[in-house]
Amino acid sequence: MAKDAVSLVDQRTQAAREIPIQDGAIRAMDLRQFKTGPDDFGLMTYDPAFMNTASCRSAITFIDGDKGILRYRGYPIEQLAEKCTFLEVAYLILFGELPAAPQLKDWIAEITLHTMLHETTKKFLEGFRYDAHPMGMLASTVAALSTVYPESRHVLDPTVRALQIKRLIGKMPTIAAYTYRHSLGYPYVYPDNDLSYAANFMNMLWKMMEPKYQANPTLARALDILFILHADHEQNCSTNAMRAVGSSQADPFLSTAAACAALSGPLHGGANEEVLKMLDVIGSKDRIPAYIDKVKAGEFKLMGFGHRVYKNYDPRARIIKWAADSVFEITGRNAKLDIALELERIALEDEYFVKRKLYPNVDFYSGIIYQAMGFKPEMFTVLFAIPRTVGWLAQWQEMLCDGEQKIARPRQIYTGEAARDVVPMEQRGVATTPATA
Ligand code: SDX
Repeated sequence: MAKDAVSLVDQRTQAAREIPIQDGAIRAMDLRQFKTGPDDFGLMTYDPAFMNTASCRSAITFIDGDKGILRYRGYPIEQLAEKCTFLEVAYLILFGELPAAPQLKDWIAEITLHTMLHETTKKFLEGFRYDAHPMGMLASTVAALSTVYPESRHVLDPTVRALQIKRLIGKMPTIAAYTYRHSLGYPYVYPDNDLSYAANFMNMLWKMMEPKYQANPTLARALDILFILHADHEQNCSTNAMRAVGSSQADPFLSTAAACAALSGPLHGGANEEVLKMLDVIGSKDRIPAYIDKVKAGEFKLMGFGHRVYKNYDPRARIIKWAADSVFEITGRNAKLDIALELERIALEDEYFVKRKLYPNVDFYSGIIYQAMGFKPEMFTVLFAIPRTVGWLAQWQEMLCDGEQKIARPRQIYTGEAARDVVPMEQRGVATTPATA
């Protein structure tokens, strides 16, 4: 009977060990028994960027990258996007089950109670330049909320965690909208608790002098679907940041600010903004082949393409393309979609992309919809951060409640100087620091 184990022989010592395999993985700590002598630290794994390292056990999101499958708590993303609302899915991601009607009603009421910001929070935003990037404003203001709710540092208290989770889910759209209004020099619009989560966000963004904002229901639903698609994605870069910072028992506001910072990078959530810049540079379909040649020459990446896990079409990109049609019926077709569709067609027939299994990811089409809805490209990653806050918080809470987890502190392979003594100043030569230092 085949055993779930690998048999390893350390050729340096001829020591042979059987390492158990559990859930398709071996424990890195089991390798430490391979030593060359009593003073040897033991064998480590070396895995830059964690290409092949599971950092945790999680029951929240399942991705099959080869098959292009994404499920939250076992439910296919396609069904959740079609049949649920964002706050319904937020409840599922956080609590593990879809809410019944009374539970959803209470959940919506609780989140709605926390949409307001302390007036002092608005003063944080006033300190930013008019042209400050909204992601910088968002991350800073979320971090500043740590000072407004000092009790949030008691992260091991489930009641304290539950309240901060509701506060963050409720307040992210408000902060996001305020960053947008600040950039335009417009007055802030207070939340309207009669409106749905997405419609209220639109209200705080776009209400002018009318007595009550009327959100277009098609656009509100499209935004809700986009929020569902962006809610969680297992151990992505920003979730890893949330877990790592949270593992020191930092409060959830500072941990979420760190996750926002990670998301802002152009290789991660910042890609949706970069896609629109890329489509502007391409300008027209006839210029696509020349652009692709430059990508293949390694001059730059095709933004919105490729993924560490998906080696097939990102299922979220497919749903976003479908949602775009309903938005364009209201807003008019965004001409950039034609360039994006042609770019996808050409790329998916090109050996360079086919060989590397590079497909459109969630960021390839999302910006085109956002722009059609009236958002500036600088806001796109903020629109990613709002729903991803739910995933970050669910992963953060799962980490805190996981008995196997402790403060994240990776090891290293030291490549620096051996021990050496300080030389008196008068005896030192001019230091030859490498250009890349
Ligand atoms: C998100 O992790 C998540 O789940 C993230 C996310 C989420 O929901 O949280 O899904 C959201 O971040 C989506 C990704 C958004 N980023 C982009 O669209 C930026 C463009 N994409 C790439 O930078 C890249 O594809 C990554 C960062 C997404 C993934 O990079 P990997 O897994 O480290 O892959 P790699 O860089 O090692 O690439 C493997 C090969 C390389 O070529 P070779 O060295 O083998 O010749 O593929 C090439 C890369 O040069 N390649 C690309 C490319 N992506 C990879 N070439 C051109 N264009 C690209 N977009």
